[in-house]
Amino acid sequence: MLRWRCERARAASKCCSKKSGSQINDYNFMSLIIGIVAVDRNGAIGKDGAIPWHYSADMKFFREQTTGHACVMGRRTWASLKRPLKERLNIVLSRSGALAATEAENVVSLPDKRSVLALAPYLSCHLYIIGGEQIYKTFQPEIERWIVTQIPLSIDGADTFMPANYLQNFAPQRSLTLADELQVTFYERT
Ligand SMILES: NC(=O)c1ccc[n+]([C@@H]2O[C@H](COP(=O)([O-])OP(=O)(O)OC[C@H]3O[C@@H](n4cnc5c(N)ncnc54)[C@H](OP(=O)(O)O)[C@@H]3O)[C@@H](O)[C@H]2O)c1
Repeated sequence: MLRWRCERARAASKCCSKKSGSQINDYNFMSLIIGIVAVDRNGAIGKDGAIPWHYSADMKFFREQTTGHACVMGRRTWASLKRPLKERLNIVLSRSGALAATEAENVVSLPDKRSVLALAPYLSCHLYIIGGEQIYKTFQPEIERWIVTQIPLSIDGADTFMPANYLQNFAPQRSLTLADELQVTFYERT
């Protein structure tokens, strides 16, 4: 049984109505499906099972954006974490069920996208799609907002990339600059 609740789900899960592709719960919290990613100049996101850069400003930004929400990740991205993401529901997608056993109450493994979408209305928080490549591709049709950090590097030998068209039908809404001159852009579906 899923014991962990998103911070905003204090009052338990009541019936939700569906509007404009978003879930609206009884407390007027509009739950969105949001992709969040850091990409290099060539759209690369990973190399050898890890993120091939380290920017603490972007990690802090990621933590602040996603805390209190649910983070959906593929089994390979899960494997790259040292521990579950704190104060977030960690939803790990795996067809093979190869997820290493964990006692953490904020981790759940699900076998497919349909199960994630079925769980979403009961969470009363945003669903952040946090990667990797396979998971971004899987949720591309459902993602309503992209939050993209541009990494000013070109990684040699990168092996995982964003889909070429992932920002098609999205328009930039606002940008901000993190430390190290990292640029973050929020894109909304048009
Ligand atoms: N730059 C960034 O912002 C960022 C963010 C996240 C990750 N990354 C990087 O991306 C790389 C990993 O990406 P990846 O594409 O190789 O792996 P991934 O997407 O993290 O995980 C792939 C695994 O997820 C499961 N899976 C995939 N699609 C599924 C579906 N539709 N239903 C159920 N399970 C599904 C499968 O697990 P099973 O094999 O167990 O069935 C599959 O092997 C790493 O280098 C990581 O560091 C970068």
